[in-house]
Amino acid sequence: MELFNVYNCYDINLVNGKGSSISDDKGNKYLDFYGGHGVISIGHSHPHYIFRMEHQLHCLGFYSNAVRNDMQEKLANKLGTLSGYDDYNLFLCNSGAEANENALKVASFHTGKSKIVAIKGAFHGRSSGALAITDNPVLSSEFNVKHDVVFIEMNDIPALEKALGKNDVAAVIIEGIQGVNGVVEPSADFLKSAESLCKTHKAMLILDEIQSGYGRTGKFFAHQHAGIKADIITTAKGMGNGFPIAGVIISPEIKAWSGMLGTTFGGNHLACAAGMAVLESIEEEQLIDNANKLGDYLISELKDNKAIKAIRGKGLMIGIDLEDMPKIRKQLLEEYGIFTGSSGSTTLRLLPPLSITKKEVDQFIQAFQKLTQIVLT
Ligand SMILES: Cc1ncc(COP(=O)(O)O)c(C=O)c1O
Repeated sequence: MELFNVYNCYDINLVNGKGSSISDDKGNKYLDFYGGHGVISIGHSHPHYIFRMEHQLHCLGFYSNAVRNDMQEKLANKLGTLSGYDDYNLFLCNSGAEANENALKVASFHTGKSKIVAIKGAFHGRSSGALAITDNPVLSSEFNVKHDVVFIEMNDIPALEKALGKNDVAAVIIEGIQGVNGVVEPSADFLKSAESLCKTHKAMLILDEIQSGYGRTGKFFAHQHAGIKADIITTAKGMGNGFPIAGVIISPEIKAWSGMLGTTFGGNHLACAAGMAVLESIEEEQLIDNANKLGDYLISELKDNKAIKAIRGKGLMIGIDLEDMPKIRKQLLEEYGIFTGSSGSTTLRLLPPLSITKKEVDQFIQAFQKLTQIVLT
C-alpha cells in the first residue's frame, strides 16, 4: 500500500528533536521556527513531558469515557487556573476540527438556532461543520456546503451588527488571531463589540484559540489581550506538545446533558498526561512570559528591515510579509537550516516553541537579516 498523496511536503525525514532543535535521518540539524504547525509548545523531547508520558504508559495508557477519569478533572482544574476561565467546563477531544465541530454543536443546542457568523479568511478545520465556517471553497466538497453560514469581513462591526440583527444566529466564531490567513488580528474594538452584540442577540461567541492559544501570543488566550470573555473557547495544537488532544471550554451558562457530546479517544489517560505536562511546564518555566518578551524582541529587531512590507502578530505568532517570501523561506531552510511556515505566497509565518531561547531567536534574526541583505549594526 502507498500513501494517499495529499501533502505537498519537504523531502526531509525528521528523526530527533530536543528543545527547538530537530534533526533528520542524515544527521542534518535544523532550528524549528514552525513547531509543526504551531504544535510544539514546551519544546521537543521535554524531560518533564517524557517523564509524565513514560510514567503514564507504565500505569494505564488508555481507557474510554465509560469510566470516571480523575486525570481529566485535574487537567480541567489546572487549565481553568492558568487560563483565568476557572468557572468554565471542559470537554476533551482529539483535534482542532473536532473541537470546533463540538463548539458549533453546543452553541446550536444551547440557542436552538443553526446560523453561524464566521470571518472572511478564516480557517477552522476540515470536518464538515469546521469546513463550512472556513473561508476556502477549494477545500469544500458538495457534502460540506449545506450549512447556514454568513461570512463577514474581519473588524467590520456594522456587518456583524447586521448579521446578528434577525436574532437567528447561534454563534459568531472568530480566531484569536487568524493563522492560516497570514497572522491577521481582530481589533480589540471588534472583539468587544462581538462580546456585547452576541449577548444582545442571544448568540454564543466562540473564540477559536487552536493556533493562537496556550500562551502563544503572550497571554493564555489571544482574545484576552482585548479584555473580553468568550462563551466557548476551542483549543488544540500546543495543548499536547504533539500528542493529539483538544478541548472545548464552555461557559457555566451552558448546561451539559448526558449524551450531548462524546468521543472514544478524547481525554484518555495518555492524552491527559501530555496535557498536564504541558501546563506544568508552561507554568514552571514561565513560557508565556518568554513568548511575550522574545516575540517583542524579534519584532523590534526586524521592524526597520526594508525588505519587510509588514510584520504582524503577538508573542511568538508572527507573520512577515515579503515580496519574495518563497525564496527567502527556501533559503532559510537550505542555507541556514531554519524551518518556518508560510501563508499564501507572501507571508512568512513564525510559530517557534514557546521555550525558544534568545540565542535561537538571534540565530533566526541574523540569518533573516543576511538573506534580506540588511547589515547588522
Ligand atoms: C485556527 C485553527 N482552527 C482549527 C484548526 C484545525 O485543527 P486540526 O488540524 O487539529 O483539525 C487549525 C489548524 O491549523 C487552526 O489553525
